[in-house]
Amino acid sequence: MTASALDIRHLSVDLGSGKERRTVVDSVSFELRRGEVLALVGESGCGKSKTAEAIMGLLPPGRSRVRAERIRLGEHELKDLPSRAMRKFRGRDISMVFQEPRAALDPVFRVGQQVSSVFRRHRGHSGSKARTASAEMLLRVGFAEPGRVMRAYPHELSGGMCQRIGIAMAMACRPQVLIADEPTSALDVTTQAQVLAQLIRSCRQEETAVLLITHDLGVVAQYSQRALVMRQGKLVEEASVADLFTRPHNEYTRSLLTMAQAGMA
Ligand SMILES: Nc1ncnc2c1ncn2[C@@H]1O[C@H](COP(=O)(O)OP(=O)(O)O)[C@@H](O)[C@H]1O
Ligand SMILES: [Mg+2]
Repeated sequence: MTASALDIRHLSVDLGSGKERRTVVDSVSFELRRGEVLALVGESGCGKSKTAEAIMGLLPPGRSRVRAERIRLGEHELKDLPSRAMRKFRGRDISMVFQEPRAALDPVFRVGQQVSSVFRRHRGHSGSKARTASAEMLLRVGFAEPGRVMRAYPHELSGGMCQRIGIAMAMACRPQVLIADEPTSALDVTTQAQVLAQLIRSCRQEETAVLLITHDLGVVAQYSQRALVMRQGKLVEEASVADLFTRPHNEYTRSLLTMAQAGMA
């Protein structure tokens, strides 16, 4: 078994075509170790989400180009994998929680059907077995009455509840890797801490490694062991969290810390 859950080498993303083409992720390399929480920070527009979407195989091929030397998930090379093959990994071995709490949910289906579909698709569970597994998963992310939630439609639930369902779906197959892209920034402040704590708790239980994308340095300090700092498509710093806060190497990292202390970030 390799030590890294995710091994990314020289990942680049270009958006647009012809004269409009822009490189928004520029030769990014990093390693996510098994079971760790690695933070990815940087100002809005620096390429964090495009990095995540490229790894997940979620960028539309016509309008974007992903280049990489390596996108390795444990033993598996995901680079250049056909989209059908990638769909087998996505949601089972690597999954994602999005910023928008309803992004993973379809408005026209009840929650129960949607959580169950993960178990049916990736685990081959029958209808009733999938429903039982879904109820257990929803209990694990803090719903005291899973039956009620399973009967609801997404619009009947709060953003925080939808995000906990998103976490339940992402964690249903005990993935090796979870990419959480600002998973709580769309929620109200009181809900943010609870949902994030739930996400981290679920990942620790399942020994899932997390790439935690955030602009909140308080979150970095609280939950992650190491951090990557991104600026204008490039990684400019990689450090343990202790080093990041006490002796940042990069000028830009220092300015992020100063802004955070001033309450501006
Ligand atoms: N659909 C798009 N078309 C063109 N440019 C885009 C599109 N989506 C994002 N971008 C650009 O790509 C860059 C990286 O975006 P993104 O990865 O979403 O940043 P972050 O998640 O760090 O805020 C940004 O500069 C943004 O303007
Ligand atoms: Mg983003």
